[in-house]
Amino acid sequence: MSTNIILLGPPGAGKGTQAKRLVEERGMVQLSTGDMLREARSSGTEMGKRVAAVMDRGELVTDEIVIGLIREKLSSGAASGGYIFDGFPRTLAQADALAALLDELGQSLDHVIEMRVDDEVLVARITGRATCANCGAVYHDVTRPIPADGKCANCGSTEITRRADDNEDALRTRLLAYYKQTSPLIGYYHAKDQLESVNGLAAIEEVSAEIAGLLGQQTQDA
Ligand code: AP5
Ligand code: MG
Repeated sequence: MSTNIILLGPPGAGKGTQAKRLVEERGMVQLSTGDMLREARSSGTEMGKRVAAVMDRGELVTDEIVIGLIREKLSSGAASGGYIFDGFPRTLAQADALAALLDELGQSLDHVIEMRVDDEVLVARITGRATCANCGAVYHDVTRPIPADGKCANCGSTEITRRADDNEDALRTRLLAYYKQTSPLIGYYHAKDQLESVNGLAAIEEVSAEIAGLLGQQTQDA
């Protein structure tokens, strides 16, 4: 049976990093609304143009747009390894929409995992981040440096980029948006008895181990 999970946490909590590991280790499918929106803006679609400035400021794009993106992905068929919702939902309206969508498709939401971190580490994590434009592998100047030959360790691409919203100004706005609009989801899922949490301040491998403990046995061959 597939397992659908949400990774919930502020910018830099490590959602993308852990999602990539779950994709590799368990054959799950990562649904990152941030990645989808960045793809839309780089492909120059009307929607991409509309959201670019909003993203660069660090504000949230409209519920309608992100719910539409998720609906499209979920409607294209179930992922046998399950979905990882990374950066979605981010508002109560999005959380309600996700519950309705999963219900419609006869699917369940199995784990909501809060990644607990302190604001102080987030600035260092975000300003040191780099991402492979080809495969999405995540690097950090200090904790996971780009290989000396400048090639992605995962796919060999030399196109390793930094995000336009990874600066201190935009990060301040992103954090504010998180506390104002997204952190109420912690209470929401707690009230639904669905909230679990891991220590996002631990080393990447330790966070992975904690998540694996919550998810139980590997589901890839199931
Ligand atoms: P999005 O792309 O989702 O960005 P975010 O939530 O701000 O989160 P990040 O991707 O910055 O952090 P992360 O938790 O994935 O951390 P990562 O693993 O990379 O959204 C971007 C924008 O799109 C939003 O601002 C908004 O405009 C729009 N948007 C997206 N979804 C939306 C929605 N649902 N509704 C409305 N608008 C939406 O790690 C960060 C760094 O730390 C990396 O360098 C990594 O190597 C390092 N690191 C990770 N884990 C550890 C660890 N345990 N120890 C040490 N270093 C670590
Ligand atoms: Mg991310």
